[in-house]
Amino acid sequence: MAGYISGDARKVTTHRLVEMKQRGEKISMLTSYDYTTAQIVDGAGIDVILVGDSASNVMAGNVTTLPITLDQMIYHGKSVVRGVKRALVVVDLPFGTYQTSEYEAVTNAIKVMKITHADALKLEGGVEIIDAVRKIIAAGIPIMGHLGLMPQSINKYGTYTVRAKDEAEAEKLLSDAHLLEDAGCFALVLEKIPAALAERVARELTIPVIGIGAGGAVDGQVLVVTDMLGMTNGFSPRFLRRYADLHTVMTGAIQQYVDDVKNGDFPNQNEQY
Ligand code: KIV
Repeated sequence: MAGYISGDARKVTTHRLVEMKQRGEKISMLTSYDYTTAQIVDGAGIDVILVGDSASNVMAGNVTTLPITLDQMIYHGKSVVRGVKRALVVVDLPFGTYQTSEYEAVTNAIKVMKITHADALKLEGGVEIIDAVRKIIAAGIPIMGHLGLMPQSINKYGTYTVRAKDEAEAEKLLSDAHLLEDAGCFALVLEKIPAALAERVARELTIPVIGIGAGGAVDGQVLVVTDMLGMTNGFSPRFLRRYADLHTVMTGAIQQYVDDVKNGDFPNQNEQY
């Protein structure tokens, strides 16, 4: 089964994403953290692969994204890049690697780009990190912004509930979105905010706005790959659509293997030398 644009084998670039927004073509984006998954996701025709710091949750089993380190993100980034031919690969700069100083932010950004060979980086925040964003872009590194629910700030919020429901937070988000576009970001992720606000941001900005829990009137959608494939269970936010139930499929296959080993059915005559 062919993906929507999998016939178009050209490498996706930041420039092509802006063109997609201009002609009204929606942008598809998923996370990946390893070589094998990235090969499948890329081969299926996805436009953007995010090496998200959600790796902290779904790969390492941490409760939040905060503990993952720069070196761990670099490991995941390198693995993903090796598996990708077409998609634009974006790596998250993890918590604590860009907030302390512009110098540290640029140094860490350059390190990730040099070692992973990724195409771009994603940072969470608006006015608070705008000087770091400007410096990283000045170094020639494309940046995707991230506003709304920012998981690296979860301890500040104390809740994963929908953000920017009140006027003050919505106004700040709008102003941050314009600030990020003016600073030169090539795209913006909006996480878990009211659909009407996301629609307004997408309408006002010329750069693509990619939503997760931000409704359908933005320029593209992103999900965590292990969630949409149904590998993770017990996490069911309203915005998540599960396209498979790999948890059940994998559990069944592994149970069958256990039975076959115990019964002596595996390996058979054809599976040995
Ligand atoms: O880390 C991540 O997976 C993300 C997405 C939820 C956008 O930032």
